[in-house]
Amino acid sequence: MNTIAVSSFKGGTAKTSTALHIGAALAKFHKQKVLLIDFDAQANLTAGLGLDPDAQDSMAPVLQGTKNVKDVIIPTSIPNLSLIPADTWLERVEVTGSLAGDRYSHEKLKEILRPLKFDTIIIDTPPSLCWLTESALIAAKNSLVCATPEFYSVKGLQRLSLFLENIGQRHALQVLGVALSFWNPRGKSNGTFLDVIESTFPKKALDSKIRRDVSVSESSVFGKPVFETAPKSRAAQDYLALTKEILTRM
Ligand SMILES: Nc1ncnc2c1ncn2[C@@H]1O[C@H](COP(=O)(O)OP(=O)(O)OP(=O)(O)O)[C@@H](O)[C@H]1O
Ligand SMILES: [Mg+2]
Repeated sequence: MNTIAVSSFKGGTAKTSTALHIGAALAKFHKQKVLLIDFDAQANLTAGLGLDPDAQDSMAPVLQGTKNVKDVIIPTSIPNLSLIPADTWLERVEVTGSLAGDRYSHEKLKEILRPLKFDTIIIDTPPSLCWLTESALIAAKNSLVCATPEFYSVKGLQRLSLFLENIGQRHALQVLGVALSFWNPRGKSNGTFLDVIESTFPKKALDSKIRRDVSVSESSVFGKPVFETAPKSRAAQDYLALTKEILTRM
């Protein structure tokens, strides 16, 4: 079982879209049994799969020890792709209930996921280095870093790299790669951005870039990945290529 935490400090680096599309591609085109975990109270991954965040339980009661993880896993419209939704209870879950006094609360998610049987588990994290993100990185064997070709985004990678290094000292965690979205193949500063990534995460920049494509945001309105709503789009091609590259790195 492979567990991947999708992360970046910054908002809007396409973490959620990347988690959703890699998960959908692994299930649809690579015959994998995949679990997506929406670990962000914004619940964009849940909504992006056409599900109502307030209609189901999230990981919150499982973390609190009042529900079994198997009871919060739900199917999606894609065969072999399951989801643990998010809801607002995830926000500050670490300071409520039984987690509040638990010194080892960061390890809880890792313990919860251990008995599950999936080929791949992908955890979508919030845009900050909060308890949820740290728990996801501790639970994951691999981290996929998301970035956009913008100065503040690549600069933010340096902080993330220190954070990942710190967790890596206590838990086996490897950086799978850095996935760039909103890519403009003719961008004037592309070389500079790739240099910054190379100096922060040597040899980790993934070759497959996700170009800007309106079909990504359109597909979330339909609650389905682009493979269903726009199978011939640039985004569908780019996400397929990215998924193949990630498979070779795992
Ligand atoms: N390649 C793309 N082309 C065009 N729009 C995109 C692309 N990827 C993502 N988007 C859109 O950009 C917005 C932000 O993407 P997304 O929600 O995946 O980012 P995020 O990093 O998860 O954000 P947050 O930090 O808020 O969790 C969404 O509206 C999404 O539909
Ligand atoms: Mg998100």
